[in-house]
Amino acid sequence: MARIIAGVASSHVPAIGAAIDNKQTEEPYWKRVFSGFEKSKEWMANAKPDVAIVVYNDHASAFSVEIVPTFALGCAAEFPPADEGWGPRPVPVVQGHPELAAHIAQSVILDEFDLTIVNKMEVDHGLTVPMNLLFGSPKQWPCPVIPLAVNVVLYPPPTAHRCYMLGKAIRRAVESYPQDLRVVIFGTGGMSHQISGPRAGLINSKFDKAFLDNLTKDPKKLTRIPHLEFMREAGAEGIEMVMWLIMRGALDDDIEEVYRFYTVPASNTAVGHIILENKRAAAKGKKSAAGKKPVAGKHKRAAARANHRNVRRGKR
Ligand code: DHB
Ligand code: FE
Repeated sequence: MARIIAGVASSHVPAIGAAIDNKQTEEPYWKRVFSGFEKSKEWMANAKPDVAIVVYNDHASAFSVEIVPTFALGCAAEFPPADEGWGPRPVPVVQGHPELAAHIAQSVILDEFDLTIVNKMEVDHGLTVPMNLLFGSPKQWPCPVIPLAVNVVLYPPPTAHRCYMLGKAIRRAVESYPQDLRVVIFGTGGMSHQISGPRAGLINSKFDKAFLDNLTKDPKKLTRIPHLEFMREAGAEGIEMVMWLIMRGALDDDIEEVYRFYTVPASNTAVGHIILENKRAAAKGKKSAAGKKPVAGKHKRAAARANHRNVRRGKR
């Protein structure tokens, strides 16, 4: 059976991609940002997922405002980098996993989450920047990727609660796939930022840090945050954080936070990053890259029981 071993959340600021492409990562401004991802790259190299599901948003690159799907699952064999105005980024073409993606589409749609199936799509900074932050800049990405594009650009985006429940449906889909695959799920975007209008440059570290705390400890609390609160507290683009809840929904209720990083700013944005491991998965694997020991057998059994209950219950 395939299983989700961990969730990773990261901001996806396009200027981070430009700093990599223009070889500015050693400049002090950027070094501060990239230094927060050194441990994460080690963690990822150690985790060696077979597949990554990357939840991100398209910024009118693949989808113009003519058609804006709420949840669009990339089922293609490959996803080239989009031209966002300066030519496509010099990053590898993302290889997809059409079989698992088709399985997820079937499972999730029959589970009453009506995804849009996308068989041809280019991917923008929302996906490629977190890939660089976690995988570095290899010639080929080390694993296939299933992109899940979420509308957070045109009102109305999905609610935080809907995103969380979709995460649970994705987990059920992954766990009903017969092949043994170790899957990491990414949530990208955020944290607080507003890139235009009178409040451009808005940062709310208090809100962001509480969001990170609750992402680990009490994600259900976050599912009750309405759109207006995200936008009032975290800026117009702070709404991107609903995507982190898809990632969180796909994990156990009780997870192991193995790494966290927060810095202000990169471009207009508060950069947040967190790595959460499913305890069962962590117990099976080696020592975590962040230096924590695998959880003890007692916790492992409790996590397995909780997980079984969640999967059985399905909905809240
Ligand atoms: C910025 C951040 C984003 O998430 C984005 O999609 C575009 C721009 C910024 O901070 O500049
Ligand atoms: Fe964005």
